[in-house]
Order: sequence, then structure tokens, then C-alpha cells
Amino acid sequence: MYYPDEVIEEVRSRSDIVSVISGYVKLQRRGSNYFGLCPFHNEKSPSFSVSPAKQMYYCFGCGAGGSVFNFIMEYENYTFPEAVRHLADQAGIAIPEEEDSEEVRRERDRKTRVLELNKMAARFYYYQLRSPQGARGMEYLKNRALTDETIKHFGLGYAGTNSTVLYRYLKSQGISDQLLKDSGLMQVNERQGMYDKFWNRVIFPIMDVNHKVIGFGGRVMGDGKPKYLNSPETVVFDKSRNLYGLNYARSSKQKEFLVCEGYMDVISMHQAGFTNAVASLGTALTSRHATILKRYTDEVILTYDSDEAGIRAALRAIPLLKEAGVSTRVLHMEPYKDPDEFIKALGTEAFQERIDQAENSFLFELSVMEKSYDMKDPDGKTRFFQAVAGRIAGFELEIERENYIGAVVARYQTSYEGMRKMVMNHLMQGAPVRTAPRPADRERRAEKENGILKSQRLLLTWLVEYPYLYPTVSAYVRPEDFSDELYREVATMLYGQLEKQELNPARIVNHFTETDQQRTVAQIFNTEVPVASQAEQEKAIAETIRKIADNALRQKSEKMNLADIQAQQAFLDAQKRQQSLSGLHISLQAGKNKA
Ligand code: CTP
Ligand code: MN
Repeated sequence: MYYPDEVIEEVRSRSDIVSVISGYVKLQRRGSNYFGLCPFHNEKSPSFSVSPAKQMYYCFGCGAGGSVFNFIMEYENYTFPEAVRHLADQAGIAIPEEEDSEEVRRERDRKTRVLELNKMAARFYYYQLRSPQGARGMEYLKNRALTDETIKHFGLGYAGTNSTVLYRYLKSQGISDQLLKDSGLMQVNERQGMYDKFWNRVIFPIMDVNHKVIGFGGRVMGDGKPKYLNSPETVVFDKSRNLYGLNYARSSKQKEFLVCEGYMDVISMHQAGFTNAVASLGTALTSRHATILKRYTDEVILTYDSDEAGIRAALRAIPLLKEAGVSTRVLHMEPYKDPDEFIKALGTEAFQERIDQAENSFLFELSVMEKSYDMKDPDGKTRFFQAVAGRIAGFELEIERENYIGAVVARYQTSYEGMRKMVMNHLMQGAPVRTAPRPADRERRAEKENGILKSQRLLLTWLVEYPYLYPTVSAYVRPEDFSDELYREVATMLYGQLEKQELNPARIVNHFTETDQQRTVAQIFNTEVPVASQAEQEKAIAETIRKIADNALRQKSEKMNLADIQAQQAFLDAQKRQQSLSGLHISLQAGKNKA
């Protein structure tokens, strides 16, 4: 962090979170909070909440959350110092520039300049396409059945046959060679010096989620090679974290996302009304792409090419998406090659039908696997089922295994009992970590841990909402009683603030530097359980305190070393506190209600 705490606090206190977020999201007041549609994932009913009292936001749908800084970072794709500076500008606060190291400042300027340059270049290509010299490009795009509206929507452009026009144009605008080099728009060779990377191609500007042009793709207008040319990686262009079309798909109304391979597929699908289509351009889908997708959706339909390469790409993408918590189906494109060709040949309705019929990713994997067995031969078939059973045994949850046994039995007309026994055999002889009862045990333990963590989050949320409960709560629950290290840290800071009567949860969020941690803190301060009345709420608080104290005592006794006098004393103290808990009664003050 490059700014002193006081500066950050000053900026925060003068950037009211409700008015800042109102500039981006339509918010409506509901009780003491504001609600709106979450800008970080796709939803139809509002689960995105903003609390003026906590100066925090939290989405109950996707878990995005944090302080006003986190919002700006996430929405604008800014780093923390960039978000601080942005809000300071908005609030008219002059902040000391020299706090940034020289290197940081130069890097930031470089990014801004490359983005500005990209915008200039995109405009240039855009006008070229519409000029007389651009007629060939326009004809090509029209031949590919793109409408004027689509061409405009995606900002398509044209680079003519002269390979120095862009260079000369940008030089006439006073752009330095160094910046031109940084932008990836130019190539250099010893004889010619610097010249345009893209020429004699139609141009596809690549935008990030905020519609900023971060790079370009160019396609030859015919059969030349390479078919597509893309910007190299630059300070603003990282292929592994950007998806083409996401700037539009993020606000599409459909709940699932369509993931395809290329520019033209995205554009054709959007033109046909499938505005939920995105592509990872010229690279395989990465786990970072999967994480980004998870922000917006829980379900992806892969609409890759129907060829060998498309199948391989799908097989690679499926586990990455699963890992990120996205469930995947695969669309069958046969007999066409890709979405663009399919839609052109059969139209929108037929494509929608294929979407509806898209196959569960596991069954898709099986149909690929099937091809390496001779299914007409009884032995071959048995070996295939053995392999299938092995795969099913790999599922963690019993219910998942049962469902897949059911699906396989239905598809391959085999016996349920036979399949189930094979799966059981695999579970028994499989690696020791995969014996049948283990996962159940693990699930139960994980569930219990989740339960206690949820109680601990609730208590911390309540402390923020009813700070006057602090003396009571702290008599029974100490910061070290929280079971997770991050929770302990948060509790320690919160207790410190409450002790000094300087409650400021947003400040605790930004004490942490990792986005994951900041999200967890936002979750900690935004935990809820449904309660019907104040009396019920009071009871819930008392019970939660008891549950956390119990858990802490149990853990102390499990860990206690009899030779350690201090530990024993701590245990006895905790036990005493615990005993006095039986008479605990919480009363919420009317009028001093929920923050
Ligand atoms: N691609 C690339 N470089 C190439 C070929 C392909 O970067 N030489 C990327 C492009 O992003 C392209 C995607 O891979 O959109 C898919 O390639 P391909 O299936 O060959 O092209 P299509 O998307 O079908 O393009 P078109 O319909 O224009 O032929
Ligand atoms: Mn194509």
C-alpha cells in the first residue's frame, strides 16, 4: 500500500458508499440497507446490498463484497492505489502523489497511455472501414452476413493495404515510438523501421469488461495465412484473463453463458440474440477464465467447434470449470463446424433447440471415451463399463454417484445393480483415501466446521450491528476463540475498535491486501439468519454465543497439554466463563436497532 492510513481514511470517509455505488447500480432502499442488481454476476432479482452504516457492500448471490475501494477496484479493474486516487479525485481531495514509487507511477501512466492509444487506433480502423478505401472490408463483413448494427456494436474496423498508414497517423498525433512499441500495434524490422502490425485485414477490437479497448484481432479477407493475427501481450492485454464479448455478456438476461472459440462465433451469436456468448481468443480456456466466468454465472454451455480440436478443447475446459464451481454442458454442433456456420445454415430457433439439448459434461466425456472401445464386442463393452465405473467412483458425493449411475444405465441400457456393484468395487479397492465411508465422514466434519464458522460470522455481524452488545459478548467470547486465523484477526481488530468506541468495519476490510481475504471479511460482516421477532433474535444471539464458547472450550481441551500450566489456566478460565453462560440473556435495545 502506497498511501498512509490517514489518507485512505480521509478518502473513505468522504466517499459515501451509497452515493458512489449509485453511480453504477440502481439502488433501492429496503429497511436500513439498499438493494440492487449485482453488477458482478448475472441476476434477475436483487441480492446486492449496500449498507450505509457499515460502509460496505455485499452480494448474497455471488459473495462479492468489501468497502467502497473494493467496489471501484472490482468494477473498474483498478488496483487499490488506483481506486484510492479515483475516489480522491471524485471527492476533490488532493492526495500526495509522491507516495507512489517512481516505478509504480510510470507503470500506471504506461497503462493509461496504451489504453488511450488503443482507443485512437480503434477509431482510426473504424473510420477506415467506412471510407472508400475500406469498401473491401465492408464487403467481406457483409458477405459474412453481419448487419450494420452488429458491425457498429462490436466496433469493427479495417486496416488497408498500406502498412504504414496507422504509424504515420499516430506519429502525426505526436505519439512516441516507445509508446507505439508498448502498444503492440507496430512491428519493427531493421530495413523498414517501424510499421503497422495489422494491414489488409478486417479488425476486431478486443474490449475488457468496462468496454476499454485492450487489444485487436485482424482477419484476412480470404484464405491467406495466418487467418487471424492478434495483439501480443501488453501492459493492458493478458489473454488468459479476458474473454471476448464479456463486456456485453455480463449484462445479458440469460442465466447461463455460452463459451465458444472465436470472434466470429461470438458476433454471430450476439447478432442472433444470444448475447450471453463469450470466447477465449486463440488460447485454451484457463482456470483464470473459469474463475472470471464464475463471477457471472453458475452454468456454462460449451459451443466449441465440432472438430477434433474442439472436442479436445472441451475436454480440457470441463475440469477447469468444475474446479471453479461452474457446471458445464456441451452443445452438439453437427453437422456444422461452429456456431457461426450453424446459425447461418439453420437459424436462431434451431440453435436454441441445440442449447436446450446440450449434453451434461460427464456424459459428453463418456461419449468421447466410448470411441476407444469396441462396443460391439461384449469384452470391449465390459471394459468400457469398468472405465465408466472408475470415473463415477471419482465423484465425492454419494448422491452424485447415484445420479450418474442412473444416467449411465438409462443411456447404455445396462443393469443398475451391475453398475452400482462395479462402482462399489472401485471404491473399495481404490486408493485408501477413497474408501466408501470416508467421504461421508469428511462431509459431516466439513458441515460441522461450516456451521461453527457461520455462527462466528453471525456473532461478528451482530457486534457491528449492535455495538452495545460488546461488553456482554466479550465477557464470553474472546478473539482467540474464533477457529479460523482470518476470523481471529478480524475479531481482534473489531474488539479493538469497539473497545475504543471507534467502530469502522470498512477499515478492517482494507487492512487485508488479498482480494480473497477482503471478500471473506465482507462476508463475515454480512451474515444473516432469518428471525421472526426481536425476542427470537435475542434468543439466537444468546445461543450463538453459547455455541461458540462451547466450541472454543472443546478445542482448548483437545489441545491441552497437561504439562502446560498456562494452557490449563486458560482452560479453567474458559470453563468458568462457560458455566456462567447458562443464565445469559441478551436484550436488544429498542430504538438502538440494527445499524
Ligand atoms: N485464431 C487465432 N489465430 C489463428 C486462427 C485462429 O488467433 N491463426 C483464434 C481466433 O480467435 C479465432 C479462433 O481462434 O476466432 C477460432 O479459430 P477458427 O475456428 O479457425 O476460426 P473461426 O472462428 O471459425 O473464424 P472464421 O469463421 O472467421 O473462419
Ligand atoms: Mn467460423
